[in-house]
Amino acid sequence: MEQYVIKGGNALVGEVEIGGAKNAALGILAGAILTDDTVVIENVPDVRDTNVMIQAMESIGVIVQHVDKHTLKINAGNIHSQIVDGDYIKRIRASYYLIGSLLGKFNKAEVTLPGGCNIGTRPIDQHLKGFKALGARDAGVVGGRIEAHADKLQGAHIYLDMVTVGATINLMLAAVRAEGRTIIENAAKEPHVVDVANFLNCMGANIKGAGTDVIRIKGVSELHGTEYTIIPDQIEAGTFMFAAAVTKGDITVKNVIPKHLESISAKLQEIGCEIEESDDAVRVVASRRLEHTHVKTLPYPGFPTDMQPQITVALGLAEGTSIVTESIFENRFKYVDELMRMGANIKVESSTAIIEGVNRYTGASITAPDLRAGAALVLAALAADGFTTIDDIRYIERGYEEFDVKLRSLGAMMEKVEDDSAIQKFKLKVG
Ligand code: EPZ
Repeated sequence: MEQYVIKGGNALVGEVEIGGAKNAALGILAGAILTDDTVVIENVPDVRDTNVMIQAMESIGVIVQHVDKHTLKINAGNIHSQIVDGDYIKRIRASYYLIGSLLGKFNKAEVTLPGGCNIGTRPIDQHLKGFKALGARDAGVVGGRIEAHADKLQGAHIYLDMVTVGATINLMLAAVRAEGRTIIENAAKEPHVVDVANFLNCMGANIKGAGTDVIRIKGVSELHGTEYTIIPDQIEAGTFMFAAAVTKGDITVKNVIPKHLESISAKLQEIGCEIEESDDAVRVVASRRLEHTHVKTLPYPGFPTDMQPQITVALGLAEGTSIVTESIFENRFKYVDELMRMGANIKVESSTAIIEGVNRYTGASITAPDLRAGAALVLAALAADGFTTIDDIRYIERGYEEFDVKLRSLGAMMEKVEDDSAIQKFKLKVG
């Protein structure tokens, strides 16, 4: 099984190009099947989650051609089934977007229940409630599948009980071709929600208000082909910004939208980093010991839950006591045990981590419990004294393209290895 072996201690310095947003790409790929015309999508990240989504689309007859590594040409004119099945589909959460788009196009969808990162119970009641309101009266879970069937879809007024990215995107996908008007209240405002809406509008949809609490959709009978470029990944960018903070480095993340990174930049400044912004880049310089702070994860524009493990790793090295409160997912501190093996001093009480900063982490053998926690543990290893091996890096590869390659280009001493002899070789090489 592949692992990372890392020798910590180098300050990471240099520039890194950020790829397309994974969580926007997943919604946009699903949205591309709403038309029979060809759609060209640029800046698709080449990561495991997008590749599973493409595999699922191909399994029902969608033709997906790679124009280059990050550009796809998609034609869904010959879909032969509205049933997406198979074990592989359980690997990703966003498979449920195929319910929204198949229902929106064919009034029928059956998709094996999604998996994804194990960070909480992750119910789908808001998705189902919305599908029912749009006319899929039987929407529900049957024999391990989400099923939804409608005679026709009719616009509806939907109030989401909590801010949910997944349900907001899914209901937009289902509603764009429904008859009449749909209003989604208490909608998620994340940049990727806006990106999916912009993409659908480029296909001829009529969606207004994406990026605010209320999204208004006027149904159209048909969508057409388009060419679209996905926005940069907020969380990949944020992860590299925190790599600068924990290694006392100097990293410029390029090809980003600084506005999407504001809550991350603000916290980095608060803990003692210098931030320089330009039109499409942010530079983070960390030249002294980090300072303690309090942070609570919140829906956008608040501090993202997907950056919670990364800031915890940084605060673990900060002077004084910090507090991190997770308000989105109930089980997102599993990685703390691994971090404690590296010398962190953290106590978790339900949704709060109380962190007493230590001077340094020390290398250990650890396991990535999920995507973002895995990436955060890599940052801890890069800051640690000595060698760390990280197992289960397949989780990290779900959402970071060439993570090790990009980190090495900034001066990280790390390698992806398959067995103990490769670990020994790396250790001999770097001394
Ligand atoms: C998306 O998950 C992202 N995944 C997650 O990123 C991200 O952490 C999350 O949004 C929050 O920003 C994808 O986009 C594929 P939610 P999602 O629906 O859509 C509750 C990553 O690392 N809820 O916004 O599943 C839910 O339990 C991943 O890239 C319901 O109760 O998240 C949670 O507490 C991990 N009922 C809250 O809402 C529902 O029907 C927000 O979840 C739906 C959600």
